[in-house]
Amino acid sequence: MQPTILVTGGTGYIGSHTTVALQQAGYRVVILDNLSNSTPAVLDAIAQITGVKPEFTQGDVRDRATLDMLFDAYKIAAVLHFAGLKAVGESTEKPLAYYDNNVHGSVQLLSAMQRAGLKSFVFSSSATVYGDPQKLPLTEDHPRSATNPYGHTKLVVEDILENLYRSEAGWRIARLRYFNPVGAHTSGLIGEAPQGVPNNLMPYVAQVATGRRPKVQVFGSDYNTADGTGVRDYIHVMDLALGHVKALQSCLQSEQDLLTVNLGTGVGYSVLDMIRAFEQASGKTIPYDLVARRPGDIAACWADTQLASQKLDWRAQKGIQEMCDDAWRWETRS
Ligand code: NAD
Ligand code: WQD
Repeated sequence: MQPTILVTGGTGYIGSHTTVALQQAGYRVVILDNLSNSTPAVLDAIAQITGVKPEFTQGDVRDRATLDMLFDAYKIAAVLHFAGLKAVGESTEKPLAYYDNNVHGSVQLLSAMQRAGLKSFVFSSSATVYGDPQKLPLTEDHPRSATNPYGHTKLVVEDILENLYRSEAGWRIARLRYFNPVGAHTSGLIGEAPQGVPNNLMPYVAQVATGRRPKVQVFGSDYNTADGTGVRDYIHVMDLALGHVKALQSCLQSEQDLLTVNLGTGVGYSVLDMIRAFEQASGKTIPYDLVARRPGDIAACWADTQLASQKLDWRAQKGIQEMCDDAWRWETRS
C-alpha cells in the first residue's frame, strides 16, 4: 500500500509540482484546495505527466468539517501544507485575510490532525523570515524578523509548530524555508500562473518576453552588489519539489523531530543576470528600465545549504538556464 499524503494548496504553483514529485516517488496524493489561486485543470496536467490523477477535494483549510471528513475518509500518513496567501504587498492592505488564511488555516489543520492522531507535517515557510540579512549565506540559526504581515504569518506558524512539538511527544515536523522558487515542470504542462500583474520578477520577465508587457522595471540599481541590482537565490521549482519528498521521508522515518531547513541553491544571481538568462532561453530581447528601489526590498539573499544536504541528503541540481528554459516552455504553451 502506498502511503497517502494530504497536500493542501496542491493545485497551486509549488503544490502541483510537489504532487508530481510525490506521485513519481510512489505516494498517493489527496489534494485539498479552495481554488482561490489555481484551477482544476492542473489536475489533468498532473495526470498527463504522471499517469495518475490525484484525488481532489475543493475546500478550505479553515473549514474544520471538511478537514475532519478528509481525515476520516482517507488513511493519511502525513500532511504537506502549502495552502495560503503569499503576496507581500497585498498582505499590508489586507492583513486580516493573511492572518486568517495562513495562521488560522494552519491552526485548524493542526487541530484536525491532532484529533485524527496524525503527527507528520511539512510546512511551507519562507526565507522572508530572515528579514534583512545580517550575514550571508543565511544559516537556519540566523535571527528571524518580519517587515510585513505575510512574513509575520510565517514567523507565527513556525512558532506554533515549535510550541506544538514541545507540547506533545511524537510530532514529526519539517519547516522548510524556500528561497525564490522559479521555473516550471520540464513538460511545460504545469507552471506558475499569477493572476493580474505579477508581483515577482520571473513571471514578469516572462510576460515581457512574450510581448504581453512592454518592459521590466528593475527595482534599484544602487545596491551594494556586483551590478547594483538585487541578488536572490533562485531555485527551480522541481528541485524544491524533490526537497519536499526528502523532508517527508525524513519525517516518516523519525520517531519525532522538528526540522528547520533552507531550500535554496546557495548561489545568488542579480536581476540583470536573470534577465540575460531569460533572453538566452527565449531568444528575445527583454527591454528594461532601471528604476527606484521597491520599498521593503533587501539587497541580497542566498541560502547556506549545508543543513539540507546533511539532514535530507538533498541538493538543488538545476541552474538558472534550466529555470528560464522551463519557464519559457510553460509561458509559450499552446
Ligand atoms: P499558490 O498561490 O500558487 O498556491 C497556493 C494554493 O493554495 C492555491 O492553489 C490556492 O488556491 C490555495 N489556497 C489558498 N488559501 C487556501 C485556503 N484557505 N484553503 C485551501 N486552499 C487555499 O502559491 P505557491 O507559490 O505555490 O506557494 C505555496 C506555499 O509556499 C505558500 O504557503 C507560500 O506562502 C509558500 N511560499 C511561496 C514562495 C513563492 O515565492 N512562491 C516562497 C516561499 C514560501
Ligand atoms: C526578486 C528581485 C526585486 C520584480 C518574494 C517575497 C518572498 C518570497 C519570494 C514568499 C528583487 C526584483 C522584482 C520586478 C524587479 N515569497 N524585481 N522587478 O522580493 O525576493 O521575494 O518572493 O515567501 O517572501 O518577498 O522576489 O521575485 O519579487 O524579486 O526588479 O518587477 O527582483 O527588487 O531584487 P523577492 P521577487
